[in-house]
Amino acid sequence: MEKLAINNNEYKLERFPLIQGSQLRAWNSADEYLLNTFFEFDNSENKNVLLVNDQFGALTIPLINYKPGVLSDSFMSKISIEQNLIENELSIEDWKFYNSAIEPDNFPTAFFDFVLIKIPKSISYLKYQLNQIKKSIHKDTVIIASGMTKHLSPNTHSILEECLGETKVDRTFKKSVLFRIQPQKINTIDESILNYTELQTDINNLMLATYPNVFSQEKVDNGTRLLLSNLPDFNDEEKIVDLGCGSGIIGLKIFINNSNTKITCIDESYLAVKSAEKSFELNNAKAEFLVTDGLNNIELNNLDYVISNPPFHNQTTLDNAEAERHFKPIKEALKNGGRFIIVCNRSLNYEPYLKKYFSAVKRIESNNKYFIIECIK
Ligand SMILES: C[S@@+](CC[C@H](N)C(=O)[O-])C[C@H]1O[C@@H](n2cnc3c(N)ncnc32)[C@H](O)[C@@H]1O
Repeated sequence: MEKLAINNNEYKLERFPLIQGSQLRAWNSADEYLLNTFFEFDNSENKNVLLVNDQFGALTIPLINYKPGVLSDSFMSKISIEQNLIENELSIEDWKFYNSAIEPDNFPTAFFDFVLIKIPKSISYLKYQLNQIKKSIHKDTVIIASGMTKHLSPNTHSILEECLGETKVDRTFKKSVLFRIQPQKINTIDESILNYTELQTDINNLMLATYPNVFSQEKVDNGTRLLLSNLPDFNDEEKIVDLGCGSGIIGLKIFINNSNTKITCIDESYLAVKSAEKSFELNNAKAEFLVTDGLNNIELNNLDYVISNPPFHNQTTLDNAEAERHFKPIKEALKNGGRFIIVCNRSLNYEPYLKKYFSAVKRIESNNKYFIIECIK
């Protein structure tokens, strides 16, 4: 296994959950750029460090002696960081996870002296996070941000300046760029950026609330639409999970079909679950909500249906293996005779994998881009 070499130390880092045969590294040059820059400073004094969007622990593990705070929207990142700390025989108590759905008032005020930001792809999410951290930094906080140039919006520089203050760009290092930002605008939080946006849909006129970083911000996804027009008739009291709920459109449509069903919306994104909760509130609908990894940690033999436009990718990586990882726990959570109904892109050949776990696997609808597959336990 390749090791991350930083500041005369080496760290074993994996992408958890492990996917057999995966060659993908758990860090990129933007992580290295941030860490190398951090260690150029005199950090002998105790510093409160905040890491934003550390995906697998590449920032947290080398900086664990600083007992860093980590701000992230991903439950999967949380468990990956924990796992990598264990693998490196480091304490899992020495860091604090702040999920991106946190209210700014629950974030420590003027606390962080050094902030390292892995720049997210979504510009609206970057703005959201910059506003979110404003109250937690002070005028002398050192802020550095980095990302791979191919993933960055051309507006990144101006957004950093607009939200925080004067920003200087460093040279490119291994296809990543680094910004050094002076925190000048820390007393002016733009509350509207921290709020959800509303989307009036043409699906039973349902209203969706969507926070940044949540799937399908501007319109209902076409795959989801096909799934919604092929839902079965649900009976009262049936237990149904909307898996990978995003802003909750599938669960809401099920509630509209039969409000006596028992719906649980699950997602690994904190902002997705917060969006789904808000969407249900806006439509006077009821459900349970859970941030977790698929149907791991769910009661066994208990569900009548799992309905999903499933997570096709492992955070940013497209693969079948990530979808397959979910199939066994889904089967285990269903009652005998329970059904798993998914929409999948025609380019993804899920059926052979589904047949390993389910007795009956059938395509019930398709169009030029998607299949709807029903699997019976
Ligand atoms: C294709 S989107 C579907 C969103 C929504 N259901 C819709 O149809 O608009 C897949 C969702 O799965 C979530 N997801 C990804 N990995 C997950 C995991 N391990 N456990 C639960 N949800 C996950 C993503 O955050 C995303 O919201």
